[in-house]
Amino acid sequence: MIPNGTLELSADPTGIAQAADLLRQGLLVAFPTETVYGLGGDACNGEAVANIYAAKGRPSFNPLIAHVASVEAAQRFVRWSDQAEALAHAFWPGPLTLVLHLRADHGVSSLVTAGLDTLAVRVPAHPTARAILTAFDGPVAAPSANPSGQISPTTADHVRAGLDGRIAAILNDGPCGVGLESTIVGLAGEPTLLRPGGVALDQIEHVLGTELHHHQPGGILTAPGQLQSHYAPDSPVRLEADQAQGDEVLLGFGAVDCDLNLSPTGNLTEAAANLFAALHKLNDTGRPIAVSPIPSVGLGVAINDRLRRAAAPRDS
Ligand code: TXA
Ligand code: MG
Repeated sequence: MIPNGTLELSADPTGIAQAADLLRQGLLVAFPTETVYGLGGDACNGEAVANIYAAKGRPSFNPLIAHVASVEAAQRFVRWSDQAEALAHAFWPGPLTLVLHLRADHGVSSLVTAGLDTLAVRVPAHPTARAILTAFDGPVAAPSANPSGQISPTTADHVRAGLDGRIAAILNDGPCGVGLESTIVGLAGEPTLLRPGGVALDQIEHVLGTELHHHQPGGILTAPGQLQSHYAPDSPVRLEADQAQGDEVLLGFGAVDCDLNLSPTGNLTEAAANLFAALHKLNDTGRPIAVSPIPSVGLGVAINDRLRRAAAPRDS
């Protein structure tokens, strides 16, 4: 909970500077974009990103969109391509999100990408969103600013109704113009429509000069079993392990003797922030992975969801 309640900031230079300041402190700020209000946190700060999931009460780690102020800023985090250039030139700033391969030196929390090697980036058109991103001068992870399972907010009142007391501030700049989330196009492989949204499909195909592949309808990227679109370690994963057996490496939680600890103090926010990096690290050992029990409360629900997927039997 936020001790003094959720601040309301106005869309003037003072409010924008305060918003950027709170983001720099690792706190969460809801802000308007042209599509819907976003719940922003510093994309390079794992704990800030973990708190986004906690504030929304999301039961799983769904990759998030990194919002940046300019094409140049986007290029610092992802490998650019001719197709990205064409779409960015045509539709940025605006309601289009591009999914591209991460650069080696990206610095973005692996909780933003849910452990994938791609990043969703977008330059929003809303002048207040751009002013905050320019003042903050870094990538801001921002899902829609609503509790998990509820409707996306298009006014500051909607945001307050859902998240009051759970986030540091809401920057109120009236209703959003588009009211529908951004269109998401995957460019890491064949150009693919990942989510329809604010920019129409035929406009995108016109600019690319080719048809888009389609992902199965219905938010698929988050569905269990979509292991190819989620990071899963090569090694077998055993959950609820009190100690390592045989050749296993133990991923611990709390005061346990282990090879790597998600949070020695048993802090779920810290554990969430460390989760994907820890799985990658243990996977690199080539040994089977055992994981300590993690309580299914708060962020523990999402952590366990992700671990169950990592442990699920898979093809080949
Ligand atoms: O209009 C919007 O896009 C709003 C505003 C705030 O910018 N944001 C938004 O974020 O809708 P969110 O978190 O509700 O939706 C992000 C979507 C999710 O469906 C997620 O699966 C997908 O983007 N996504 C994010 N990163 C991805 C990646 N690396 N690969 C594939 N899909 C990704
Ligand atoms: Mg949403």
